Amino acid sequence: MIMASTTALNSGCNVGGAVVNRNPLFLRPPSSTLVKQSRRRSPKLRFTVRASETHADGPTKKLGLSDAECEAAVVAGTVPEAPPIPAKPAAPSGSPMVPSLPLSRRPRRNRKSPALRAAFQETTLSPANFVYPLFIHEGEDDTPIGAMPGCYRLGWRHGLLEEVSKARDVGVNSIVLFPKVPDALKSPTGDEAYNENGLVPRAIRLLKDKYPDLVIYTDVALDPYSSDGHDGIVREDGVIMNDETVHQLCKQAIAQARAGADVVSPSDMMDGRVGAIRAALDSEGFQHVSIMSYTAKYASSFYGPFRDALDSNPRFGDKKTYQMNPANYREALIETSEDEAEGADILLVKPGLPYLDIIRLLRDNSSLPIAAYQVSGEYSMIKAGGVLKMIDEERVMLESLMCLRRAGADIILTYFALQAARCLCDEKR
Ligand code: PBG
Repeated sequence: MIMASTTALNSGCNVGGAVVNRNPLFLRPPSSTLVKQSRRRSPKLRFTVRASETHADGPTKKLGLSDAECEAAVVAGTVPEAPPIPAKPAAPSGSPMVPSLPLSRRPRRNRKSPALRAAFQETTLSPANFVYPLFIHEGEDDTPIGAMPGCYRLGWRHGLLEEVSKARDVGVNSIVLFPKVPDALKSPTGDEAYNENGLVPRAIRLLKDKYPDLVIYTDVALDPYSSDGHDGIVREDGVIMNDETVHQLCKQAIAQARAGADVVSPSDMMDGRVGAIRAALDSEGFQHVSIMSYTAKYASSFYGPFRDALDSNPRFGDKKTYQMNPANYREALIETSEDEAEGADILLVKPGLPYLDIIRLLRDNSSLPIAAYQVSGEYSMIKAGGVLKMIDEERVMLESLMCLRRAGADIILTYFALQAARCLCDEKR
């Protein structure tokens, strides 16, 4: 275990940027350690270093000359010995003989060595940036999700707690919950969504009891609870009713906040829901609960594996009357200004990798934190490519996450959170 789970939040394992030391201030170890070490080892390995101290492992022997004598020797032409100027490494025979190009800039100079590359790295990736989406169900066992290798519907009492504990061990202290709701509890108006003893509120209370400092995000939308599989209430003619749905979402958000959710995340794409949820939370005394708005959520086929996992496919039609057209860019700015004005705390773009331009657009047009959701289809493609040995799964995973950060995401919702955090922590070992 790399760190005590109680101190997991935001600590350690910052990868990619400056070298992270377990002892970042280079403080002297506690005196007990010092005593033990100096007893075992020779005194020159002690942690305090004086300028005058002899370094037996240094390059030269000391001659016992003063500074003035050393300077005088050089002035007199007795230059002390040092290694010779290194020979130019040989090129393979057959290399063309060419005059060097007259370049004033050679960008490769700054990429010459690992230390230089680390010094000039612009973006970093850390487990503190990850939010880990977890699927839960009423069962006791953890059921594998076919379309998402490595992901499970976790039993809310056991599997969920174990997965959270593993994540905290490697510095991931934020999760988002998605429930698989029994069909018998689904209805056209999705009322189970605000049952205070429903699966999500129950799981939140259990998690907060065990891990009070865990940051819990929740999904606000009706689809897991809707017998129609839509994010809102469906009228007889197939229209998704906006304002009536928002009414339900407010009740859902309050039930989640009452259970202890830290951040409620409306993913439904109804108009005006952020403002309505903010007002509802405030009127119930939940001023401290944040809203992460799915600001730019596209009607994407990359959600397929997720819908299989929750059995939440729309029973008819698609979600194109509320989720955005993947062809649209400017429209994301309209959603951004609405969500900002209505009081969102975090703006989310979804999917992630195919929508890097949208992440950058929001980053450049808002001062709010930006979240990116690397969705189920993105995850499954990388997993499948890895299983088929077509790509190096681990490297592609880390690169995709770094690219989401580079595009402007502060946090990333990713099913890779645990696996990636483990890699990042191993790299630092
Ligand atoms: C539903 C919701 C979806 C996802 C998160 N919340 C599916 C949808 O909109 O149909 C998708 C996440 C993923 O694919 O990983 N409100």
